[in-house]
Amino acid sequence: MAQRPYIVGNWKMNGTRAMLSEARAIDRAAQRNMKVEVALAPPFTLIHAVHREVEQIGVGAQDCHPGEDGAHTGDVSATMLADAGAKFVILGHSERRTGHNESNELVRAKAEAALAAGMRVIMCCGEDAATREKGGAEAFVLAQLRASLPQIENAAERLTVAYEPIWAIGTGNNATPEDIGAMHTAIRGLMVELFGLEEGAEVRILYGGSVKPENARELLSAAEVGGALVGGASLAADSFMGIALAVADAPEG
Ligand code: PGA
Repeated sequence: MAQRPYIVGNWKMNGTRAMLSEARAIDRAAQRNMKVEVALAPPFTLIHAVHREVEQIGVGAQDCHPGEDGAHTGDVSATMLADAGAKFVILGHSERRTGHNESNELVRAKAEAALAAGMRVIMCCGEDAATREKGGAEAFVLAQLRASLPQIENAAERLTVAYEPIWAIGTGNNATPEDIGAMHTAIRGLMVELFGLEEGAEVRILYGGSVKPENARELLSAAEVGGALVGGASLAADSFMGIALAVADAPEG
């Protein structure tokens, strides 16, 4: 079954309540463009407010703690996020793997906690520039995914994968549609191996890294690309929904 393209905004550490008007504008535009499924991951502090302001778009978080509760100063559990209105969590983003030394094992524990709390998971993966130059990108990404994916039953139903080459995030550099297609095809193969033909085929695989309205259609036309994870361009409704529109208007491939 063909699924609608899934366009997810990752606001990272951006946004105060002044940004709620942008979330409302995104939501209104999403109501007019039902060909695309739109979601937003604001910072923790805005999850509940965005959840209350919007009707159409999904609201999610950018991280969670693997534990249920307890003495973890500054951390937020998956249950708390669900309580605040989050329906999904982005996990394994390279900015957390690098900036917070998150290992594959920790990412996997977080993903299992998020699923246990009833949320969906967007699992990020991606190689750095040196790994790609050496020709090891595919092996690296597949190994990273194998070690990071949740090991619980029926995980595939609530799983999305996001391939984000580190060298393309926030840099204006993009992978070519050929390279994206090759990587996504390899990831699809892993999904089918892990979850079986039917369920593995249903897992959406997003591309992320400097996706903009101008390049979205080309990047997202690559093989096995089910949508985009968007950082910088998701901060303004015009550019974020420009991406959604470009994808919605793309001729059927
Ligand atoms: P970018 O970020 O669109 O600003 O490159 C993408 C991401 O990190 O999810």
